[in-house]
Amino acid sequence: MRALKVLFVGVEVGPFVKVGGLGEVLRSLPKAMRGRQCDVRTIVPKYASVDTATFPMRSEIQKLHVASKEEDPHGLLVTNILRHTGKDKAITYFVENMECFEKRANVYGYADDTMRWVLFSRTTIEFIRRSKWKPDCIIANDWEAGFIPNLLKTEFQDDPALSNVRTIFCIHNLRNQGMFDAAFVSELDTDSGQGPIPGLFSPEIKKLNGMRRGILYADAIVTVSPTYAQEIVKPEYGEKLDALLQDRRMDVYGILNGIDYDTFNPETDSDIAERYTYRTLASRAVNKAALQEHFGLPKSPNTMLMSYVGRLDEQKGLSLLESNNTIRSLLDNLDFQFVVAGAGEKRFKIFFKDLEAAYPGRVAAQLEYSEKLPRMIFAGSDAVLVPSRFEPSGLVQMEAMRYGAIPIVRKTGGLADTVTDFHPEKKEGTGFVFEKFDPNALLIAIVRAYESYRNKKEWRKLMHRAMNADFSWKKSARDYIALCRKIAEKRGEKGENSSG
Ligand code: GLC
Repeated sequence: MRALKVLFVGVEVGPFVKVGGLGEVLRSLPKAMRGRQCDVRTIVPKYASVDTATFPMRSEIQKLHVASKEEDPHGLLVTNILRHTGKDKAITYFVENMECFEKRANVYGYADDTMRWVLFSRTTIEFIRRSKWKPDCIIANDWEAGFIPNLLKTEFQDDPALSNVRTIFCIHNLRNQGMFDAAFVSELDTDSGQGPIPGLFSPEIKKLNGMRRGILYADAIVTVSPTYAQEIVKPEYGEKLDALLQDRRMDVYGILNGIDYDTFNPETDSDIAERYTYRTLASRAVNKAALQEHFGLPKSPNTMLMSYVGRLDEQKGLSLLESNNTIRSLLDNLDFQFVVAGAGEKRFKIFFKDLEAAYPGRVAAQLEYSEKLPRMIFAGSDAVLVPSRFEPSGLVQMEAMRYGAIPIVRKTGGLADTVTDFHPEKKEGTGFVFEKFDPNALLIAIVRAYESYRNKKEWRKLMHRAMNADFSWKKSARDYIALCRKIAEKRGEKGENSSG
């Protein structure tokens, strides 16, 4: 079989630049696909934070002009392509531009974000046009890369240099669609996705809905779990794109994310206090003590330690802890410790800081991004909370289970696909699952976990089951490859373009 050539496009790719789950998936999925008769490469903007001492680069193609002379008389938008080859021979391309990427410390959050992503998308296309290496399939990730399927099916549809390139649009989070809040955008300002992409300096560019455009024009659409794929065609989870997704449902696939088993492995992890496997769980106690010490909590081996790891975002269901004073009632009535790690919305930072002050020695929070801390928490805590309002896939619950921390999750999206509810008599389950987005439902799940924790023998069996569940990328990587091959075979046929 001929090697399949795949290019992943996204605005964060670990380990070079990682803000959240997207960056983690774009680090680990290409890695899992490589070698299986696949030549898989990635392309990402080169921000100021990308460390070229750690990741040396050489020039691949220089001076790509993606804006016209009139639009860009001073050449501020001229881009270059750099190339980094990893120790494992993995190739990553970087889009270099002083104004839009090099001068920016962060990935997201600038007034000209849409323009930056259109520039990135146009550069990627121009690079493929000029490059000898041409992908059979582009996997464009989230709204920032949704302009790629759009441009290929419209402006570039007759370009012979691109005629064999197919696209998959991958949705990691349907809520983020552009530089506006889809829930509040007026009808007048709604982007139907049908019109041409305006010039880079046009004020209209801010109104573009990259999510809608990606869904509208890609050859296939993937989202990151089977349950989320079913949820998003309904109004409740559809973020106003459910009707379009319904129209395209024959082309929508749900492929569950995996986690990188080399990185998330308590047997080899050098960042945790003591390594262990499900057979040597006694060693795990060292990690619990280390975690309690790190957070300045009493080193009590038998007190249940519950944690929250992740973005501090409304999506994650943190408001359930707030409303009805749920977490406070739990802390007032049950003897457990609670640690929190993650960056995000100010509102939740204040909430957790207040909680820490109100319950000294019981609650502790570290509210900034850390690469190592999540793994220390998974290795040391007994249970991990993921009460999400919606969750396309979720990685935390899988990472936690691999380290023997039991997830308490809401039954939605990828959480529903990865955690099964504890049932001691049936000897089943890998966590605690609740259904309704309701503070009482969460409270009951936490109380169930707390009670179960007291039965050491059953809890140990629960940990065994969680640690032995298979969340490697193996199966999903195969599914992505099969889908790429399937749409690549459509070569020569005119792409079926849905018109929404
Ligand atoms: C987004 C989603 C999360 C998913 C991640 C990677 O962050 O919110 O559920 O795991 O993308 O696909």
